[in-house]
Order: sequence, then structure tokens, then C-alpha cells
Amino acid sequence: MSRTVAKSPAKFISFEGGEGSGKTTQIKRLGEALRTSGHEVVLAREPGGTPEAEMVRDLVLNGDPGRWTAMEEMLLMYTARSQLVRTVISPALARGAWVLSDRFADSTLVYQGYAGGVDPDEVRKLHKLVLGDFNPDITFIMDIEARGGMQRVHTRAEALNQFEKRDESFYENTRAAYLEIAKTAERYVVIDAGQSQDMVGADIASVIKERTGVLL
Ligand code: TMP
Repeated sequence: MSRTVAKSPAKFISFEGGEGSGKTTQIKRLGEALRTSGHEVVLAREPGGTPEAEMVRDLVLNGDPGRWTAMEEMLLMYTARSQLVRTVISPALARGAWVLSDRFADSTLVYQGYAGGVDPDEVRKLHKLVLGDFNPDITFIMDIEARGGMQRVHTRAEALNQFEKRDESFYENTRAAYLEIAKTAERYVVIDAGQSQDMVGADIASVIKERTGVLL
């Protein structure tokens, strides 16, 4: 069983960051550690996470770059997100599970907003309309220098999605935007994703302990 101090655990955790920042590896790792200590864990990813939202993922990520405007992408992302929250995330949190999400609303704020050209305040307004004040309890921003992240992406076996085909300046913009939004709320924690996976994992575990009291 887990050793929990008398703090109310923060259970909805999102992982954000540029391409190749190691989010997926760290989510798996944290999920396994939480499960080993007796917690129910639900993993999600965005865009996606339900059969219908995975169809939206395919619509947005595959096909010709530029066939959607950033505004259209934002609307598609929020359609999928609304359904994911309603059918997966909210019920999981309601029954006491931890939810670890590979990206969430901050990706829209950064990719379609700051880096994509939609006014970030308009993205925030849409968030309010669709999800009200619903946000993760902790958001890890996996910070990596744009070039280093892209090198990791290019060594993967999978085909590149349309965001991964953009030029380096787009990634520099997303990185700067993440660091900017990190200053706006306490839930953000910037992690140096250029370290070894073990060191990144240790940083994440120490934040979980500090913020939730759960020792992993
Ligand atoms: P990933 O699953 O490999 O991180 O790829 C998802 C891509 O989708 C990534 O390039 C970021 C992009 N994206 C957006 O542009 N807006 C969003 O709201 C989300 C969730 C992802």
C-alpha cells in the first residue's frame, strides 16, 4: 500500500513539452510507480484517448500540413477534449483514480495559440466555455532545447506527424511559450528534460511527494 501523508492528493497530472521531450517514457514510469504503490491509474493522451478522439487525432495530425487553420485545429482539439473529459477523465477522478495525460489543454494554448497565431486569450475563452475551470492539478513541462528534441524525434521509427515536420523556429516558439505560461500558475512545474531519464524520473517523483504527500 502507499504511504500517504495527510494531504489531499492531486490526481490529474498532465505532461507537456516539445517533441522528443520524453513525456511518454516518464508517464509510463510514473504510472507504473503509482500502480505498484496501490493506486488506480488511468492513462490518457491528447489528441486522442477515446475511439472518437483518436479519429480526431488522425484528422489533425495526418494529411497535408496547412489543410486546417490554427483556429480549426483548436476547435477540433476542444471537441475531442470535451468528450475525453466527459467520458474518461472525470469518471476516473470521481472514483479516486489518478489520471496521467500525455498533453492536455496547454498544448492548444501553446501550439494553436502562442505558436500558431490564435490569440491566447481566445484559446482561454474557449477553454472556459467548454471546460470551465477544469485543469490538471499538476502540469509537468518537459523542457528541452528545440534541436535536441527534434533529434530524438528523427531517430524514432514512426512516420513524422504534421507538427513534427515544421521548422526549428516553430519549436523554439513552443518552448518559449511553455516557459512563459509556466509563470502563470502554481500547477506548472518545469523539468529539465535534457537530463538522463533516471534523473528526470527522480525530479518528477520528488514533486509528487512534495505536492501530494505520496512517496514513490
Ligand atoms: P505527440 O502525441 O507526439 O505529442 O503529438 C501530438 C501533436 O499534436 C504534437 O505535435 C502537438 C500537437 N497538439 C496540438 O497542436 N494541439 C493540441 O491541443 C494537442 C493536444 C496536441
